Amino acid sequence: MTKTLNILALIGSPRNEDSYTYKVIRQIEAQMNDLHPTTVEYVFLCKVLVPYCDGCLSCMYKRNRPSFFGKKAIVTCTASGGGHKGVLDFLEGTASAWGCDVVTRLGISSAQMHKERYLGLVEECTADVARKFVTGISAGGLQRVTFRQLVNFRAMQNMTRARKGTRNHAYWAERNWLDANYYNDAPVNPFARIMASYVARQMRTAIRKGNITPFR
Ligand SMILES: Cc1cc2nc3c(=O)[nH]c(=O)nc-3n(C[C@H](O)[C@H](O)[C@H](O)COP(=O)(O)O)c2cc1C
Repeated sequence: MTKTLNILALIGSPRNEDSYTYKVIRQIEAQMNDLHPTTVEYVFLCKVLVPYCDGCLSCMYKRNRPSFFGKKAIVTCTASGGGHKGVLDFLEGTASAWGCDVVTRLGISSAQMHKERYLGLVEECTADVARKFVTGISAGGLQRVTFRQLVNFRAMQNMTRARKGTRNHAYWAERNWLDANYYNDAPVNPFARIMASYVARQMRTAIRKGNITPFR
């Protein structure tokens, strides 16, 4: 029996169901269904009424406790003309900080969405995204870790090691992460591992000596 894929879609556009973001995800959903039975649960962030940030830092601590290892994700964004890269990099960084493997990404230019040629290209891209998503989920396993993810892990590790007695520290200790090279056994390029260890040492030295400078 073929198991249905259950996907959670977080829609960030305040235009909800009218947004191109939603419409493009619906297209990906239909194309996934051509390959494998798929259901998508939509959460519209504007309807959930997430309040403004009050700096409680609990999201930061949750970010420090990733739990979605082995879960595949895709990230998409819509902009009229430009800025896709910055948004997609941010979304991908956030999803991978939660532990997800981001299998692919897609940026749409809404100003082009009335043009026949562009719509054809979007159709091709969404079909490719759908195929990669379904294939990634079916294959399972853990994706190769990027250098950026390794450095991010080391930064979180340094932060956590420095805060003994906290819930975070206990979470990390239970999982043997405090002295680990990464959260799990995902394949890592040995050179990237050495470079990340070097960067981690630099971070610790800078913190100890208190010689961190403002970011320019
Ligand atoms: C506050 C605001 C800022 C925006 N900034 C950009 C931008 O930097 N670059 C761009 O190409 N479009 C920008 N846009 C246009 C939106 O990206 C565009 O309307 C897009 O279709 C919105 O996505 P949606 O259809 O999924 O809601 C902006 C729109 C708003 C309301």
